[in-house]
Amino acid sequence: MLNAIEISPDIWWVGGIDWNERSFHGYTTEKGITYNAYLIMDEKITLIDTAKATFTDEFLQRISQVVDPSKIDVVITNHVEMDHSGSLPAIHKIAPNATIYASAGAGVNEVRAHFGIEATPVKSGETLSIGKRTLTFVTTPMVHWPDNMVTYSDVDKILFSNDAFGQHFASTKRFDDENDLCEVYKQAKKYYANIVWPYGMQAKKALDVVKTLDLNMICPSHGVIWRSHIADILDKYEAWTTYQMQDKAVVVFDSMWHSTEAMAREITDAFIKEGIPAELIDVKHMHVSDIILEMCDAKYVAVGSPTLNSNMMPTVAGFLTYMRGLSPNNSMRIGLAFGSYGWAPLGPKQVYAELENAKFQLPVPVVAQQWIPSEENLAELQDTVCKMIEAAQE
Ligand code: FEO
Repeated sequence: MLNAIEISPDIWWVGGIDWNERSFHGYTTEKGITYNAYLIMDEKITLIDTAKATFTDEFLQRISQVVDPSKIDVVITNHVEMDHSGSLPAIHKIAPNATIYASAGAGVNEVRAHFGIEATPVKSGETLSIGKRTLTFVTTPMVHWPDNMVTYSDVDKILFSNDAFGQHFASTKRFDDENDLCEVYKQAKKYYANIVWPYGMQAKKALDVVKTLDLNMICPSHGVIWRSHIADILDKYEAWTTYQMQDKAVVVFDSMWHSTEAMAREITDAFIKEGIPAELIDVKHMHVSDIILEMCDAKYVAVGSPTLNSNMMPTVAGFLTYMRGLSPNNSMRIGLAFGSYGWAPLGPKQVYAELENAKFQLPVPVVAQQWIPSEENLAELQDTVCKMIEAAQE
């Protein structure tokens, strides 16, 4: 087992590493997950967050490498979701006199609802002296539940940010500069797109507060600790929380007898011909959480479905439903609905309705192709793509 790691003088990482977890609420976690918890050895021994219940033993073993867990005086619950609070009942049992702090209202209510434990409420801006250090709490509601808050330690200039700035990335190395940074950034973006995206406005407010802090480290509750690339991850969050888009296209489709596929290929080639990077994605072969990663900063999104039993393909509907739940801000995004049909163009029309509901700009009508597209039909898609690009420039 990986030992507890001293990440800064008297501050220890004591979390859990979930090497083989491959799904978080249907979002694929191909690099595993970590549940980071931090132990501060000050006059009041303070634990920040815990770990998922299935990791209680390993979490307690790590704490025990530093101190007897019964000596913990303070537990800060930045977020009650069970990946961070699942081991709270165990700590409460071992250290029944430790004071548990959670955000006033939502945090305290959630601790009570989940565990029947009474926590002490803290409000945004409130401070707590634990000895040499003063901790400041800042609530960050909806990043990612109503109860979320972050905790700042003044002496160490460390922000314990919980879900914010996290990545689902299991590693024995705790810091950004010790890991493959490309993979860490990819996982940070995938995490943002699949977990935080619905709460972009709230995340932006939290980010604006974080940017005012003097920071040596950002210690999230998932993935690596930011110490060498703090400015970079803040810049990325600035771009993501303000919905900045790249000049790129994703073309998402399913197909039965290759007609919609032929259209999708032609649309992809048309974007490339116009100098716009494009990615062709068959929904059968890419998980929706990875499609969202690809589309979250794409200016152009084309979605194609044939017609199956008077409906769009369930695979395409699944992707669009997942996207709708994430409520992306699509008002500056250019969409296209396309697809084939035999006798009624219902599949592509349903795709169009979904994109319209999701507030995409739709400068061209649905492109519905009966039976098999001819060379001429396919060539016309170049004009369709040009119209999309023109609309983006207006
Ligand atoms: Fe990592 Fe919202 O829990």
